[in-house]
Amino acid sequence: MYRSQNCGELRIADVNKEVTLAGWVQKSRDKGFMIWVDLRDRYGITQLIFDEARTEARVMQLAKSLGREFVIQVKGTVIERESKNNNIPTGEIEVLVSELTILNEAQLPPFTIEDETDGGEDIRMKYRYLDIRRNPVKNSLLFRHKVAQEVRNYLSNLDFCEVETPYLIKSTPEGARDFVVPSRMNPGQFYALPQSPQTFKQLLMVAGMDRYFQIVKCFRDEDLRADRQPEFTQIDCEMSFIEQEDILNVFEGLTRHLLKKIHNIDIQKFPRMTFDEAMRTYGNDKPDIRFGMKFGELNAIAQHKEFGVFNSAELVVGIAVPGAASYTRKEIDALIDWVKRPQVGASGMVYVKCEASGQYKSSVDKFYDQADLAKWAEATGAKEGDLILVLSGPANKTRAQLSALRMELGNRMGLRKPEEFSPLWVVDFPLLEWDEETERYHAMHHPFTSPKPEDMHLLDTDPGKVRANAYDLVLNGNEIGGGSIRIHDKEMQALMFKHLGFTPEQAQEQFGFLMNAFQYGAPPHGGLAFGLDRLVAILGGQETIRDFIAFPKNNSGRDVMIDAPAPVDQAQLEELSLALALKA
Ligand code: AMO
Repeated sequence: MYRSQNCGELRIADVNKEVTLAGWVQKSRDKGFMIWVDLRDRYGITQLIFDEARTEARVMQLAKSLGREFVIQVKGTVIERESKNNNIPTGEIEVLVSELTILNEAQLPPFTIEDETDGGEDIRMKYRYLDIRRNPVKNSLLFRHKVAQEVRNYLSNLDFCEVETPYLIKSTPEGARDFVVPSRMNPGQFYALPQSPQTFKQLLMVAGMDRYFQIVKCFRDEDLRADRQPEFTQIDCEMSFIEQEDILNVFEGLTRHLLKKIHNIDIQKFPRMTFDEAMRTYGNDKPDIRFGMKFGELNAIAQHKEFGVFNSAELVVGIAVPGAASYTRKEIDALIDWVKRPQVGASGMVYVKCEASGQYKSSVDKFYDQADLAKWAEATGAKEGDLILVLSGPANKTRAQLSALRMELGNRMGLRKPEEFSPLWVVDFPLLEWDEETERYHAMHHPFTSPKPEDMHLLDTDPGKVRANAYDLVLNGNEIGGGSIRIHDKEMQALMFKHLGFTPEQAQEQFGFLMNAFQYGAPPHGGLAFGLDRLVAILGGQETIRDFIAFPKNNSGRDVMIDAPAPVDQAQLEELSLALALKA
């Protein structure tokens, strides 16, 4: 038996017990005649005491050789501590050691294994197994486990069945690039790793599984951001014989369950907003509704005056920044520089100070009088003491720029409180999205999404206007999940592929298996997938998913611990017939 208890378990009621503990040496304090050691494992820290008067000399001697992170086993007696530590659950006791075994020595770790470490990001990633020994990282993994377990319980109780789908598949378009895997047994041919199990879960509905879920790895070769990893985990779900409303209710229920279980927060009905409204009001399809600064469109009141910049703009739009009328010229200039950075891309910004005197002072006083500016204040909801910031230009770009500014101000002003949770359904997404680069329409969600029947007639004449039965769940300004009602009819699916620019042959070659399946009695179905990493991070009050992934990739998509990706040797390349694939 390595241990009778773990390092987080012993309490005052255990005094006089003979125990065996095992763990890592967090630190040791050697006072000569007494040595204290903090022994750590996943469950906590227990103080050990070696006392010259009560511990054998041989054991005392060995204790003096202990270094940080040595793995040891001790036997001893639980005693009451003289000076108690109220900060840890085991703080009232210590273990008077009678026997010590060094199970493994350790090199000095490259950074301190403490909550506040001296190790930078790179070194901690290289030695991630040491980083995970630290409480913040360890607790994030435990938290992730708890969320995943609650998800499994909740869905299993509703008759969802977890089914594993394959990782070696044929490419399914979800908007990102595929990771491909060469097949040795089929020279010159490749599997793709799934961007999601989308087609498989639909086939499971054709197969009659009725309610499916899977906590599953997905792979997307896209540029990394704080909320994106090349391999990430979805809570992937699909249901048969349902309408959009049923899906929203089930997954609202799941989210409510998690908020209650994890934060003891009750949220009754989640608000809903159409995609159009989200774009008009927040310039963003995943608005953070924890704070205001809603967009006010100013075209009608700001155009047709002498100000040429606004007159020629497709959209003039502003926000009221609460209490910011007191900003100095320097502070406002800094904001203007911020929106002019290439990452945001605005060409300039107009401002209006709504002063306490009831007067308006703006950067465009030459063109607008007090009555004009009062209308701006009304449209943006600005009160005395607020600062109105206005951008103009092409509608979509300007909305995106103002949204970036709104989020930046929300962060700077501390309005995005991590302990506050504001879920939101965004519904009625457009079916198609124009891609400037390829100059054609792409499926905004994926090609299996069903258009709204009432918009079908626009498919030929005004495809950009067709709305889909597609929805996203947004939490605190992050897209936590997305899904749709699917097409379950072969003809309709073929029509969709046509609109997406596939020839019938291409559609058959890529998706024949799905369209064939639809000929054998496909039930009406739909579903959604949550990003587990994002969900866990947001519930944990953070936005960087890397901290909630045991072994994440860095910003260049590298695992710096195992040093991947890496070249493979020539023989392996030949065996995989990669040269053959290149020629073909
Ligand atoms: P979608 O592409 O919207 O839908 O993905 C679902 C959710 O997965 C998360 N997510 C990511 N998380 C981390 N890193 C990434 N690179 C990443 N990409 C996506 C997001 C997102 O909301 N098959 C459909 C679902 C469906 O229609 O049922 C799909 O994959 O939180």
